[in-house]
Amino acid sequence: MTEAEHVSFQPETDRNWEAFYKQDVSAKIPSFSRDGRIYDCIYAQQFNRPLLDELFTITDKLRDITKTVEGEDYVSSLLRNKRTMLWFTQPSTRTFLSFLNACQILGMNTSDIRDAKTSSEAKLETFYDTVRTFSSYADVLVMRHPEAGAAEKAAWTLKAGDRPIPVLNGGSGPDQHPTQALLDVYTLDRYLQRNMKRNGDQASAERGSGIDGKKIALVGDLKRGRTVRSLAYLMKNYWDVELTLIAPEQFKMESDIRGFLDKHGIPYHETDNFEEGIRDADAIYMTRVQDEHDATKGESAKVDYSGFGLKPKHMRMIKKSCIIMHPLPRRTEIDSEIDQDPRAVYWKQERNGMWVRAALMSYVFKKEGDILGYNPVKK
Ligand code: MLT
Repeated sequence: MTEAEHVSFQPETDRNWEAFYKQDVSAKIPSFSRDGRIYDCIYAQQFNRPLLDELFTITDKLRDITKTVEGEDYVSSLLRNKRTMLWFTQPSTRTFLSFLNACQILGMNTSDIRDAKTSSEAKLETFYDTVRTFSSYADVLVMRHPEAGAAEKAAWTLKAGDRPIPVLNGGSGPDQHPTQALLDVYTLDRYLQRNMKRNGDQASAERGSGIDGKKIALVGDLKRGRTVRSLAYLMKNYWDVELTLIAPEQFKMESDIRGFLDKHGIPYHETDNFEEGIRDADAIYMTRVQDEHDATKGESAKVDYSGFGLKPKHMRMIKKSCIIMHPLPRRTEIDSEIDQDPRAVYWKQERNGMWVRAALMSYVFKKEGDILGYNPVKK
């Protein structure tokens, strides 16, 4: 049995799903909202600027509150009566652990399945029955799946049943990874803002987001890298951003994303010349080859990726204020010597994931008011 066959439906439900799935994302987005708020987090296109700003304010406040034991106790009481199901049937370290720790910060209990071979999926249980079972025990489903559209299918199918719960997409095939894009934008914003302040541009730093007016280079397997795809979608929320898309010909950004950038008037420049592309960037976002999505075995290995790695010599060519990001895991895209350079923020980016996901989870359960309104008792 292949992983794709796990997702099979009963034929009748399947027909309705196909019709729904084929629609344009903008037409589907309202189905993933409730009471004017995001209910299921499936697509990066669901986020607008006010919501991003709000989530990042919640993120900062959570970090601040939990510095004291009293604050930590308060935050961990907020969702004590809620349970999370973590269904991760594709390898994950950071997304899984950051969601798990985000749940713990908020006092939630968790259950998990990390290998389809250990669940009733191996007994050919239908996709509907599997996700319906999760909803018997949990109040929210966080999932990662090898197939594009699987998180959306879970949200859609649960909505038709008697016990719907929110679904948060932790990565679906080569398609999207919206919560990664949230932590990426938070990291871009905060560290680019820090640089503006350091350069004495206090006024601009306080006025807008650190991302407004910046040049961002996305490097690597842009065709199948779901993190860069989701990140590109979020760029519509910022002013005067320019993207440089640096990839070998075989891994060029797909036309759906290029069409989206055109539609939203986001200028971009495509190149396979790494050194030319990174030279005047304010942020460089590196990615690895996504060879798990090869259509034929060994296909990625034939692509010459050697010119798409960041080496110490490049750190002397780029801007002094440029930040270096990577969703991780890395292979050879960033020389480990660069970890010591203050411009390397990928380890901070990794930790930011836990806080941003805790903020998202608290928003899904409408707890943002409790967090933003928290004032420690003065002793
Ligand atoms: C992902 O799950 O997409 C990762 O965070 C990035 C990668 O695997 O390269």
